[in-house]
Amino acid sequence: MPKYTKNDFPTWNVRRFLEPGPIVLVSSAYQADTNIMTMGWHMVMEFSPALVTCLISGANHSFEMIRKSRQCVINLPTVDLAEAVVRIGNCSGRNVDKFSEFGLTPKPGTLVRSPLIDECYANFECRLADSGWVNKYNLFVFEVVKAHVAASPKFPKTIHYRGDGEFMISGTETAKYRRLFRPGML
Ligand SMILES: Cc1cc2nc3c(=O)[nH]c(=O)nc-3n(C[C@H](O)[C@H](O)[C@H](O)COP(=O)(O)O)c2cc1C
Repeated sequence: MPKYTKNDFPTWNVRRFLEPGPIVLVSSAYQADTNIMTMGWHMVMEFSPALVTCLISGANHSFEMIRKSRQCVINLPTVDLAEAVVRIGNCSGRNVDKFSEFGLTPKPGTLVRSPLIDECYANFECRLADSGWVNKYNLFVFEVVKAHVAASPKFPKTIHYRGDGEFMISGTETAKYRRLFRPGML
């Protein structure tokens, strides 16, 4: 077992250790406008219905588009798109058409009007399931109503934000601990 010497750490920055999920691109559509934002703050809440919460700042153009349309697509980029992912997060759809600026292909969704980003490994079409926390926390509870996932590779090289401009690229896979799970917990 490892032994660690620990120091006090600022609570505001514990996110650096608690953000295991991959960085995603959230695409949206409202009236004639489409948009994309980069997002790290999301959490799976339920298996079925498949609920996912997303923290979308009220300062983002995407916020009003998603609040009004009550839909979005959560797109999963791989490390090949890392540069675009950061750049998309550094500009606003208020003054940039991010699909054309970043050479990304909007593909029609099946159940939502928000476009899928074709270059991403997976696309999850979402409908707003609960807006009860939007005003207080900018927190949207979505239901994934349709999921499109690439057939291969089985484990995509996703990127995970550590804060302070640093990313972790998903790496070694192991099934070594699988035998320890109760079947219902897999
Ligand atoms: C790595 C990274 C992670 C981000 N995570 C979030 C997030 O979880 N929530 C959020 O509101 N903004 C997040 N942002 C900031 C938005 O992507 C950024 O404000 C974006 O430009 C908003 O675009 P929009 O105004 O077109 O909606 C993140 C940016 C980067 C680069």
